[in-house]
Amino acid sequence: MSSSSRPLPRPGIDQIKAYVPGQTVEGQGRSIKLSANESALGPSPKAIAAYHDAASRMDRYPDADAFGIRSAIAKRYGLNAARILMGIGSDELLSALVRAYAGAGDEVLYPTATFPMYRIYTLATGAQNVQAADLNYGADIEALLAKVTPRTKVVIIANPNNPTGTYTTKQDLERLRAGLREDILLIIDAAYAEYVEHKDYDSGAALVDATNNTVMTRTFSKIHGMAGMRLGWCYAYEDIIGVVGRIRSPFNVSTPAQAAGIAALADLEFQQRVIDHTRRWRQILAQRLKGYGLSITGSEGNFVNAGFPDAPGRKASDLDGFLRARGISVRPMAMFGLPQHLRITIGKDDEMQTLMEALDAFYTQTPSAA
Ligand SMILES: Cc1ncc(COP(=O)(O)O)c(C=O)c1O
Repeated sequence: MSSSSRPLPRPGIDQIKAYVPGQTVEGQGRSIKLSANESALGPSPKAIAAYHDAASRMDRYPDADAFGIRSAIAKRYGLNAARILMGIGSDELLSALVRAYAGAGDEVLYPTATFPMYRIYTLATGAQNVQAADLNYGADIEALLAKVTPRTKVVIIANPNNPTGTYTTKQDLERLRAGLREDILLIIDAAYAEYVEHKDYDSGAALVDATNNTVMTRTFSKIHGMAGMRLGWCYAYEDIIGVVGRIRSPFNVSTPAQAAGIAALADLEFQQRVIDHTRRWRQILAQRLKGYGLSITGSEGNFVNAGFPDAPGRKASDLDGFLRARGISVRPMAMFGLPQHLRITIGKDDEMQTLMEALDAFYTQTPSAA
């Protein structure tokens, strides 16, 4: 049989290395997973109750229009429900947006140290990845604009950025939009928007309302602790919503996911508890890591990203191995383009205490080879 007699995937797909999700450590007794930016406090009890309640309706297809949850999001954030589309996590929407607006011969542009799925979605659609150099581990607006070519179709910016924890100001986002051609789709991936507390930050909704070529994606996986439900949404001009709506599966978001999402949105007290917990621990953790001489690139999400020296015994891989031996998994950042960094997700109080003790042991009890 000749090799031409078998089906071959589209060009670009063979360049994709499968995404490796955050791992847990097996077989070490207690396992603490701080590697996937999941929520320390889990879902709201009200979301769990709504999920159980929806179980009796699993014989019926879900509401394809997701009217209830779109209305709940619109009310909660003061948005236009007709401009909201739900997805199987924000991942599905990011994938569909890239697929709808870029293809063979086109370019998709984004910063360097950012969410690896942008690369995968771009290659899957047959387009070229173009990355602009970062400034202080965050998006550099001038560098992004300098990389625009006539082939650029989509620009993606994670705000706050995963993995570096940096954020782009509202003013800089507006400058980026103003500097891009009007026929370029700007995607603002605001998966961690709820954790940011800076006055000059905006999730992107204001820019969406003011333009017809910008989209904001959001998720229930982080603040709402519903990563396992796979629920996300995007907000955009109606034409863009119509385009993505035509290529998604009609019943993409399940009945329990819609029901749990509505209940989660309404539990404001729970959301505030998650925000308070996350902000408290990310500050403690960042201070502690700085005290060990590490550099913190940013901590605007539910994680802290730390840079390590290239010194024997004190590299990112040394601490990673030390923590793994104690059942604690954090995220090595090589796949995100930062081989000397580790990203640590904020966990529960007792998990963070255990982490602190392990950090202390690493820096006081293990020798550096220097
Ligand atoms: C920046 C960013 N965008 C999107 C996602 C995907 O989130 P979802 O669970 O909604 O697919 C993640 C998940 O970690 C993320 O970090």
